[in-house]
Amino acid sequence: MKNDSNYIDFGERGRFNIKNKLNELTGKEWIKFTKSWFIHKPPRRKETEILHPAKYPESLVKEFIEFFTKKNEWVIDPFMGTGSTLIASAESQRNCVGIELQKKYHKISSDRINKLETDNKIIPLLGSSFELNKLLIKKNIQQDFDYCITSPPYWNQLERNSIRQKNRKENGLDTIYSKSKNDLGNVKDYNEFLDQQSLIFDNIYDVMKPGGYLTIITNNIYADGRLFPLAFDTAASLIKRGNKSWILKDEKIWLHDDKPLIALGVNNAWVGNRHHQYCLIFRKDR
Ligand SMILES: C[S@@+](CC[C@H](N)C(=O)[O-])C[C@H]1O[C@@H](n2cnc3c(N)ncnc32)[C@H](O)[C@@H]1O
Repeated sequence: MKNDSNYIDFGERGRFNIKNKLNELTGKEWIKFTKSWFIHKPPRRKETEILHPAKYPESLVKEFIEFFTKKNEWVIDPFMGTGSTLIASAESQRNCVGIELQKKYHKISSDRINKLETDNKIIPLLGSSFELNKLLIKKNIQQDFDYCITSPPYWNQLERNSIRQKNRKENGLDTIYSKSKNDLGNVKDYNEFLDQQSLIFDNIYDVMKPGGYLTIITNNIYADGRLFPLAFDTAASLIKRGNKSWILKDEKIWLHDDKPLIALGVNNAWVGNRHHQYCLIFRKDR
């Protein structure tokens, strides 16, 4: 029989163990989140955010943040984009630093953050995550972080996806993030991309507390008639970084069941309708 003085009863939500080391969830909520796949139907994006070619939903990020942190802990996102991680952190009463290379996306984030009412520290930085340490020092942020959640460019997939490119171009929307040489999405060679991406996660490793978790949302991608196992290679590359090796803990698969099926390769050859993404979960050694 469990000692009841260790538990707070939250009714429908279940019972919260006051010795919970990681988060503020009840046992029932904890178990629910550990399922290896999920379907997430986010609300429609607003006009300004549609300009950005690859935003993830705040509601999804919020679930991860609430699993991997407690209130007032610190979250970091080295590929901030339109600031989804920062908004989700503020809504969950966590502090957050985001880094974005492009002025126009940094401005979208800043404008969104300025409308928030929050007592937490929500800090959007403009610059390259290759220079993460310098940026933090410059802004006098001496923080070690509890959690990182982010979605890097999926190699140079934006440039390659011609159907999507055509539709967005016709609507006057961005088809790539930028032409900057510091933009990870502009690295042409696949292996070079993996190396560069690892350097940014080395930087995150340096500012992460021992035992802190990292979630990377990415995907395997189909290009030039073959599948590039980007998600798997991302996982493989981060666990082999010498004294900055992350421990791979798991994957959660985000299923999109609301996308229409497109006739790809019919009567000719296998081309799949890829309607899922990977959320890779790593941890820094304690
Ligand atoms: C997949 S998007 C992230 C979108 C974001 N999660 C959101 O919901 O808006 C990747 C972002 O990384 C940015 N980026 C690319 N290289 C970068 C770098 N070296 N440092 C910081 N940001 C970078 C791109 O400009 C782009 O906005």
